[in-house]
Amino acid sequence: MEDEQKTKEQLISDLQVLRVKIAELEKSQSELMQAEKAFSQSLEKYKNAIGFIINVLALAVEVKDPYIAGHQKRVTDLARAIAVQMKLPADVISGIHMAGLIHDIGKISVPVEILGKPGILSDAEYGIVKNHPERGYQILKDIDFISPVALIIHQHHERMNGTGYPQGLKGEEILPGAKILAIADVVEAICTHRPYRQAMGVERALKEISEHRGVLYDPQAVDVCLMLFRERGFSFKPC
Ligand SMILES: [Fe+2]
Repeated sequence: MEDEQKTKEQLISDLQVLRVKIAELEKSQSELMQAEKAFSQSLEKYKNAIGFIINVLALAVEVKDPYIAGHQKRVTDLARAIAVQMKLPADVISGIHMAGLIHDIGKISVPVEILGKPGILSDAEYGIVKNHPERGYQILKDIDFISPVALIIHQHHERMNGTGYPQGLKGEEILPGAKILAIADVVEAICTHRPYRQAMGVERALKEISEHRGVLYDPQAVDVCLMLFRERGFSFKPC
């Protein structure tokens, strides 16, 4: 009888301890949920701030050169479509998207007379234009983008065989995002009118990337780009 009473008291005591533990767990869970909510709100604010920075930077260079305005958006559309089709991770696609929208930001340092020059550029003028990936990198390198946006922009004129600029990187030394951006950049540039020449059309652009597949341009990204235009009906939206 005494033992039975003891067991009962013990059970009540255990139950009370259990109740306290459950209450503590519920409190921790609620605190965790609050922390998660605060984190996702901060992340959202951070993404908005980055989006704002990108828009401001894009506008700054687009005001200087109207050709760049539509160019950056169209290049982004194609680069993003290639990346999605290649099933790259979401953070890589996001990095390509952000880099595309401001990939020519370095041209902010190029005089308007050179950007809009209708004739052939002198070696000195071409040298100034060629400095834009480096300049863009310097402008962006300290911004915490999560994805390597500044590096993608730094490398968007690199070529698979090392003949690109500014660093002459080769093959796997070049980021996947930069390889994709390079193809989209070239295709868009050939397709559209420039101050120094008429638009040459989509077929000419696709011929360029086909002929230099694996030599200048990443073979897999070239195949996906060709497929998008020839089988999926991809076309550049007018900006
Ligand atoms: Fe460029």
